[in-house]
Amino acid sequence: VITKVKARQILDSRGIPTVEVDLYTNKAMFRSSVPSGNSTGMYEAVELRDGDKGVYLGNGVAKAVKNINDKISEALIGMDPTLQSQIDHAMIDLDKTEKKGELGANAILAVSIAACKAGAAEKEVPLYKHIADLSGKANPMLPVPAFTVISGGRHAGNNLAIEEIMILPIGASRFEEALRMGSETYHHLKAVITEKFGPHNCNVGEDGGFAPNVSREALDLVKEAIGRAGYDEKIKIALDVAATNFCIGKRYDLDFQSPQKSGQDFKSAEDMMELYRQLCVEYPIVSIEDPFDKEDWEHFKDISSLAICQVVGDDLLMSNAKRIERAITESACNTLLLKVNQVGTVTEVIEVVKQAKEAHWGVVTSHRSGETVDSFIADLSVGLAAGQIKAGAPCRGERLEKYNQLLRIEEELGDQAVYAGEDWRQ
Ligand code: PGA
Ligand code: ZN
Repeated sequence: VITKVKARQILDSRGIPTVEVDLYTNKAMFRSSVPSGNSTGMYEAVELRDGDKGVYLGNGVAKAVKNINDKISEALIGMDPTLQSQIDHAMIDLDKTEKKGELGANAILAVSIAACKAGAAEKEVPLYKHIADLSGKANPMLPVPAFTVISGGRHAGNNLAIEEIMILPIGASRFEEALRMGSETYHHLKAVITEKFGPHNCNVGEDGGFAPNVSREALDLVKEAIGRAGYDEKIKIALDVAATNFCIGKRYDLDFQSPQKSGQDFKSAEDMMELYRQLCVEYPIVSIEDPFDKEDWEHFKDISSLAICQVVGDDLLMSNAKRIERAITESACNTLLLKVNQVGTVTEVIEVVKQAKEAHWGVVTSHRSGETVDSFIADLSVGLAAGQIKAGAPCRGERLEKYNQLLRIEEELGDQAVYAGEDWRQ
């Protein structure tokens, strides 16, 4: 049973406070911490921040920590950690608000994940196996990683409007090979950028992707790196446009990152559509996330109906069950970007993944730009057989911790290990 729950404030990979919790059972102590991102929307679970501008610029999480130490702890002591749904619902009931704004989704999620780890230990099974059991799905699968190799938008200080260019080693036969392919390509890319633009263009963004001061040529750099690494047939490209960040009125300002905004690069949604069409022909792009503003349902529908690539809803969906339902009904996209902290509990995460899968959607388990060393989403992606994971570059500790955990899981599964590969979208 759960004997003690103790939380503290730690810092995430951006140096911004977040919540860490130690949950004790008779067996051991289980630790978890929660990530945080740049994009937050009104439909996602509430990240509780103190708001005292004099302390960590208002970003402290002392209230969330106190909520765990005082209220959540009292409610959970004595509970069986294998009963995930009961634990999560006890916290949801205690919070009483729709978006977990009373206790804070950051408080609730940290405890939910720690309890999940404790539940796995209680059953003496690996975490991914426990998650697979909780979801009622028995076949764990190693996901295809989407490695961020170029960062832009709000994740970097360069002129690139697109937030992420990712590479997907779909043609690998195992996860271990996928990681090797990603790493080799990443290092070739560093050489390509250095040759063309000098080493000062090899600085990295928040999730470890290089942030050269380029715009559309970024895709040529990536294509060249894939070729030099010898993976032309095996590695595909994905984009996270995060277009909400540069949609002004009904127009898209591709120049929004540039200090001397020319005002020349405004595009209509139709222009953007045409751009995506061209890019999908010129480059091996198989997936585009948030191609339009989060409220532009019509153009999301249009691009999805073109079937030129996978269309991922991140800001469009905010991992919110109601928005996912609408997107399914309207065929506005065909893949869920799953940000666990926008949902708030493991139980509800399992539910939204089910919802997406029942609609035959793809599922991308996602990190956030502000991460910790907690590798929970690695086990989650395997246990739910999500098929895809996006956890940043094959570089920097907080990103690698997820990919390295997938290596360990693959090793442990041995002959039983299945890599999603060509079935990344199932
Ligand atoms: P965020 O970005 O974690 O900064 O919100 C991630 C994404 O847009 O996919
Ligand atoms: Zn995104």
